[in-house]
Amino acid sequence: MLLETRHISKSFGGVQALKDVNLGLEAGEVRGLVGENGAGKSTLIKLLTGVYHLREGTVLWDGKAVSLTSPAESQALGIHAIHQDRTLIPTFDGIENAYLGLDYPTRHGKIDWKAMAARVQSVTESLGLELDLRKTAAALPPPQRTCLEIVRARMRECRLLILDEPTAALTDREAERLFSVVQTLKKNGTAILYVTHRLDEIFRLTDRVTVLRNGAVVDTVETGSVDRDRLITLMTDSVPVRAASRRRTFGGVLLAARNVASRDGSVHCGELYARSGEILGLFGLGGSGRTELLECVYGCRPMSVGTVELNGAVQTKPTPASSLQNGMALICEDRRGKALIGDLDVRDNILLTSIDRFAVGGVLRRKAEDAAVRAQIDALQIKLADMRQRIAELSGGNQQKAVFARAMMTAPRVFLCDEPTQAVDVLTRNEIHRLLRLKADEGCAVVFVSSDLSELLEVADTVQVMRRGSAAQRLINENLTAQQVLSCCYET
Ligand SMILES: Nc1ncnc2c1ncn2[C@@H]1O[C@H](COP(=O)(O)OP(=O)(O)OP(=O)(O)O)[C@@H](O)[C@H]1O
Ligand SMILES: [Mg+2]
Repeated sequence: MLLETRHISKSFGGVQALKDVNLGLEAGEVRGLVGENGAGKSTLIKLLTGVYHLREGTVLWDGKAVSLTSPAESQALGIHAIHQDRTLIPTFDGIENAYLGLDYPTRHGKIDWKAMAARVQSVTESLGLELDLRKTAAALPPPQRTCLEIVRARMRECRLLILDEPTAALTDREAERLFSVVQTLKKNGTAILYVTHRLDEIFRLTDRVTVLRNGAVVDTVETGSVDRDRLITLMTDSVPVRAASRRRTFGGVLLAARNVASRDGSVHCGELYARSGEILGLFGLGGSGRTELLECVYGCRPMSVGTVELNGAVQTKPTPASSLQNGMALICEDRRGKALIGDLDVRDNILLTSIDRFAVGGVLRRKAEDAAVRAQIDALQIKLADMRQRIAELSGGNQQKAVFARAMMTAPRVFLCDEPTQAVDVLTRNEIHRLLRLKADEGCAVVFVSSDLSELLEVADTVQVMRRGSAAQRLINENLTAQQVLSCCYET
């Protein structure tokens, strides 16, 4: 046995995040770890990687008890993790980030930057990844940051690689590369602990799967011996209800973006129109400009040409304030970077854009605010100890739910959602789909970006394809297949 945990527990104040967890991992095994948002997955990982001190329970490595009181100790054993909250240094470039915590090579007493660059480049290529290593981490889009973290993990000897939601926001093609990296590592005898809410990945990649519920291990089963519904039942005790079926008839156009180009060149000729009652799926490969187009339309990325017509008002320079005022909400992909303020509590984060609604003559109505926030927390089942808790203390999926809750609070007519279900568990994912459908049925227009094509085909009435920053085909989702959509994404 490579790794064994015995009676591991962890609590934060009054919240017991892990209870008496026993887990054994063999070398060369790919183990899935699943459970609802807040079940304790990331906490377990942080204990194994020395981010949190292990105070209750023991960890055996190669059969011997080890102390894990710092990340350095854990790394020295060969344990590496790609955390759910990515841990790159924003101002460092790819090479410096890959070398984090490693000794820099020197030549004649000076840092040998050339050798560093060559080493990182060769690791990147050996993984089949394409990355601009000169860019700072802050300048990379989120999927590329994940790739950079994988490169970083591969720079060291790695006996156990832990992946916490690695494919959130990765496109299928990028995910494929990641899967082949996992297969290669497995062949070399590395153990993998793989956390995801995308159950098809569990079935595709893992040998066994461990289910956590409320901090305790429910069971560990052979992946081949269970199906999807069984796994969901182990996690939650209930089976998800599918969102209502798609629509065919729509009202008037609520949002029309025409000929949009961004000043930075990431969008050349973006087109988007969404009608009342419609859920429009926006799809494209990584780098095709989906996120950038939404940002232009919302007004948080400068546009050089183009128009955005919202509820009949035409604008050439939308701003977030004008968009909000005209009834448009953006749920953005980068929840930690752009959407949430980590030091504010959950309540204020949810109220952030709707606070005006609760002011009468400049005086805030606290009780009404509390009630409105509480309603959202209940509807989305956000797991927390108190709405006055710092949002950074919530589990990843529960933070994502808070971003969604905030958009719901402003009662918009047009929703722009960029990966709204990333990191959320199966049941909540369905709940978010259901709520968006409900909004569409009430007459709103919804624009939905997901790098998970099967999800997109499940929810969207219409699919707008983007290719290299420009609008490509617009397809009606009637028996549409993934193949058909993908073939529009590649140059013909
Ligand atoms: N630093 C912290 N302070 C207080 N509570 C915390 C902290 N970290 C985690 N928790 C709580 O511990 C519980 C488990 O959280 P954890 O992040 O391990 O969940 P998870 O299984 O990774 O969920 P997700 O799928 O949403 O990522 C949650 O109730 C969370 O709010
Ligand atoms: Mg987590």
